[in-house]
Amino acid sequence: MERTLTKDTVDKVGHLVLLKGWVNSRRDHGKIVFLDLRDRWGVVQIVAGAELAGKINSEWVVEVSGNVKKRPENLVNPKIPTGTIEIEAREIKVLAESETPPFPLDTEGLDIDEDLRLKYRYLDLRRQRLRRNLELRNKVIQKMRQFLLDRGFWEVETPVLTKATPEGARDFLVPSRLQSGNFYALPQSPQQYKQLLMVAGIEKYFQIARCFRDEDPRADRAYGEFTQLDIEMSFPSQEEILNLVETLYIGIVKEVFPGKKITRIPFPVLTYREAMAKYGTDKPDLRKNKNNADELAFAWIIDFPLFEWKEQENRWDAMHHPFTAPKAEDIPSLYEDPQKFGKLRADQYDFVLNGYEIGGGSIRITDPKLQARIFAILGHSPADTEKKFGHLLTAFKYGVPPHGGIAPGIDRFLMAVLGEPTLREVIAFPTTASGRTAVMEAPSEVDENQLKELGLKTAAK
Ligand code: AMO
Repeated sequence: MERTLTKDTVDKVGHLVLLKGWVNSRRDHGKIVFLDLRDRWGVVQIVAGAELAGKINSEWVVEVSGNVKKRPENLVNPKIPTGTIEIEAREIKVLAESETPPFPLDTEGLDIDEDLRLKYRYLDLRRQRLRRNLELRNKVIQKMRQFLLDRGFWEVETPVLTKATPEGARDFLVPSRLQSGNFYALPQSPQQYKQLLMVAGIEKYFQIARCFRDEDPRADRAYGEFTQLDIEMSFPSQEEILNLVETLYIGIVKEVFPGKKITRIPFPVLTYREAMAKYGTDKPDLRKNKNNADELAFAWIIDFPLFEWKEQENRWDAMHHPFTAPKAEDIPSLYEDPQKFGKLRADQYDFVLNGYEIGGGSIRITDPKLQARIFAILGHSPADTEKKFGHLLTAFKYGVPPHGGIAPGIDRFLMAVLGEPTLREVIAFPTTASGRTAVMEAPSEVDENQLKELGLKTAAK
């Protein structure tokens, strides 16, 4: 017999069905046992004789064949979609037994020790809240893909084993075996590759891109890796990029989060200076009612400063990243008094939602001389610039189109829109707050032989 999903049982009253899934709960009523059977689509109540139910318990995997019966009016459960029916079990086959899980799975789970939840993440993900978060994440990503494909964008994958791409964090390094003593860096973003794709004439690129950053974690900043919707376009105006993303997010809210209400459309646009003067932050929470979990206040913050002064390092740093174009009228000042560099502005924009920065982007520098000047201001010697970024400056000598883009953070958007307390609640297998991976508990020690092969010695041993 073909399998029936729990959600489809309501259409099969009077039929014999075969169900497969996990036992969500067991309730004994003398000679009769109620089992709630769960699959990815929901739960349905099974009624079985005590003998048939045997020792079957929560989280066992079973196959049940039985008749779909309408429940008497007084036993209807309006809280679940299958609450009008139940399955009268004829046969139950145990496919796998289960030990008692280390924590309850039928709660929100937020009060359980997080490290324990992440150690057993495959169980934690069985809870309804996390299953819903993964489902919505999946829908958001599919919507992003479809929206951009419909508008002529191509999804292109870029390398993960690569050279450092600065975005203001530390790099993760991977030692090379074939070139002992040398290292790959994991990309902090696909920034340089997406710009090279513009030189290549791809014109409209996107990628659901994994980014790797070694920075101190916060509730809204993942340690290690996170995911961006990375976008780049050739010949765009800033307005075109902002409109594209605005239309996409209005569509996502409408289709995936229909219960949420956007405070203002079109999204308000504030300059960095205005935002700082009015709200004291560059990511203001513009909700009318900050206690309303269903209100979404998107905003654009534009015209960011080009540089910020790093007091400890006694140098200028890029506010966004070193590939961001200065405002055309500010370019001459790059060759004048360094004291005034703090006043220069960039063609940079941030995308903000309910007080979170959920995306950032810019129009890029395409003039190799200007790019070299920015690297010099950031403290790179000409030799250093050539070593680290020579490939980009060379590429710009071969017909580079004006280009720009943006990268909305997928995890952070989901966290904000779902009102979750941390990013970890919207990621299948996140790292713990102390930087260990869920379930697999990396980083871990490696074999002496493996280190030798890589030409490495660890100081800690
Ligand atoms: P930026 O560094 O501003 O820009 O990152 C863009 C967006 O990515 C998300 N994000 C993060 N999310 C979770 N954890 C983190 N540690 C984390 N870091 C960043 C945020 C942020 O707004 N290459 C440029 C984009 C561009 O210029 O096109 C970039 O990566 O939502």
